[in-house]
Amino acid sequence: MRKISDRPIGVFDSGVGGLTVMKEIMRQLPEEKVLYAGDTARVPYGIRSAETVVRYSLEMVDFLVRKGIKLLVVACNTASASALTAIKERFDIPVIGVIEPGARKALETTRSKKIGIIGTEGTIKSNSYVHAINALYGNKPIVMKEHGAIHFDRYFEVSLGGLSIFTKACPLFVPLAEEGWASSDVAVLTAGHYLEGLKKEPIDTLVLGCTHYPLLKGVISRIMGENITLIDSARETVIEVKKALLQYGIEGNSLSGPLWTYYVTDSPERFIKVGERFLSRKIEQIENINVGG
Ligand code: DGL
Repeated sequence: MRKISDRPIGVFDSGVGGLTVMKEIMRQLPEEKVLYAGDTARVPYGIRSAETVVRYSLEMVDFLVRKGIKLLVVACNTASASALTAIKERFDIPVIGVIEPGARKALETTRSKKIGIIGTEGTIKSNSYVHAINALYGNKPIVMKEHGAIHFDRYFEVSLGGLSIFTKACPLFVPLAEEGWASSDVAVLTAGHYLEGLKKEPIDTLVLGCTHYPLLKGVISRIMGENITLIDSARETVIEVKKALLQYGIEGNSLSGPLWTYYVTDSPERFIKVGERFLSRKIEQIENINVGG
């Protein structure tokens, strides 16, 4: 028999970007209650050390767990890259990050076995997508000498027995998306600059490894060419969430009451302004919270 759980799903992000994942949940799982927590007082996570990202993430997730969530989605790529293991160790609920679903889809998609990954400095430095793709490809774990080095400021190739992965951090894409400039000439110039190296490689698949990048899909596709398949981690992650809800027998069927509640660590004005653009709908239930003392 199909089991039902009235408890909410928790979505955690460093700020407003996770709303690209939220939007997918609204589309694919319209009967689920969701509590979204955005650490707007401490965003961006993408430029911080892994230790700091782990500490912030545990504080934010602790807040959501105390609210009684049944499953957690770590919507932030940077937090998924650095803090997923720590979160899974600390909390006893199903936890889904965005790295593995994106990595899986990239592997399913590529024909040339050459994949590009773009993300924040933190995500690229962690090599998390590289490790995830490598593991899913069935290779032995790799010890990367470059781990934590500064290979985020130029495109960087890793060869994994028959697979090649090219990575590049594109930090300015985040403020461009938040400013509403995702389709502007500035975005085209910026993307042209960041993607110059990747464009010369024979990749056929490019993972948008950051919450904000789906907003720049049009511009990225224009620079890379239409033959390159762009992988939207948000979409893939929610497909995985759907499977997990079924597997654990905790699907929701909320037909009344507020479905979506937002918690932010800074005052809500900017979140509402930028967020309504990201979501293409109104943000109504929103509260300011304090985490981490
Ligand atoms: N949410 C972050 C990510 O997906 C981008 C914004 C940030 O740097 O905090 O990596």
